[in-house]
Amino acid sequence: MNAFDLTGKLAVVTGASRGIGRAMARALAEAGADVVGVSANLEESGSDVEKDVTAAGRSFEAIRADFADPAAVAALGRELAERTRPVDILVNNAGTIRRAPAADHPAADWDLVLQVNLTAQFALAQAVGAAMVRRGHGKVIFTASLLSFQGGITVPGYTAAKHGVAGLTKALANEWAGCGVNVNAIAPGYIATDNTQALQDDPARSAAILDRIPAARWGAAQDLAGATVFLASPASDYVHGIVLPVDGGWLGR
Ligand SMILES: NC(=O)c1ccc[n+]([C@@H]2O[C@H](COP(=O)([O-])OP(=O)(O)OC[C@H]3O[C@@H](n4cnc5c(N)ncnc54)[C@H](OP(=O)(O)O)[C@@H]3O)[C@@H](O)[C@H]2O)c1
Repeated sequence: MNAFDLTGKLAVVTGASRGIGRAMARALAEAGADVVGVSANLEESGSDVEKDVTAAGRSFEAIRADFADPAAVAALGRELAERTRPVDILVNNAGTIRRAPAADHPAADWDLVLQVNLTAQFALAQAVGAAMVRRGHGKVIFTASLLSFQGGITVPGYTAAKHGVAGLTKALANEWAGCGVNVNAIAPGYIATDNTQALQDDPARSAAILDRIPAARWGAAQDLAGATVFLASPASDYVHGIVLPVDGGWLGR
């Protein structure tokens, strides 16, 4: 299936150090793309994701950037947009979560989550996407969430940010689809990563979540691989502005 081939493409994956981003980077490399990985604490060399990408025979470059710092995000966006080798695929996946009941939710937690999960996502998509629009092609993929559709429990900032990501996906797609740039999002279900460790460790929440998943298991980061390659490849050239759930059937229930 040549339509899924990414040979020669350059993909930037944020939040690539671990969890879902690491699996996405590996999937893109296995489909043929070279990868630039970005995260707050990514090792300059020798990271797990670097090993995955190079094992697939592709090149890897690490960039460390803290999305809580708007100036760092702006600098990253400029740097990526001005490269001689253009970015073909941007995966906006980095994200954080803060859990506290809404009535007591600290303003600092709200501000941090909105900055990292939404404002930084727009700033990077804007900078790299503008270069894609000028070139007339490119793929932008956001990591949304089930909380792009639902309210969640004790994560009001996270839910607001992920609803924002779904809206931003559609807003950018409306403007850029006619310029050859695809903007879409993937909404992972409950995936066993550090992000959901508190839920996995809570026997009552964990059992309640599992009971509601038609596929009868938590997701693994690797479950996002197929959707990532699809939305990064020519196979999705006529797909614009969707938020694709990969959730074991959760939303259909
Ligand atoms: N797990 C789930 O069930 C689930 C469900 C729906 C959506 N998501 C979304 O999927 C994405 C990845 O989550 P995950 O489950 O893979 O979580 P994770 O294992 O906690 O990984 C989070 C990634 O984001 C990076 N990151 C966090 N804060 C950052 C910051 N301030 N600046 C730059 N990078 C930062 C981390 O970098 P460092 O390692 O360098 O700190 C790491 O690479 C997030 O957007 C999350 O909201 C997850």
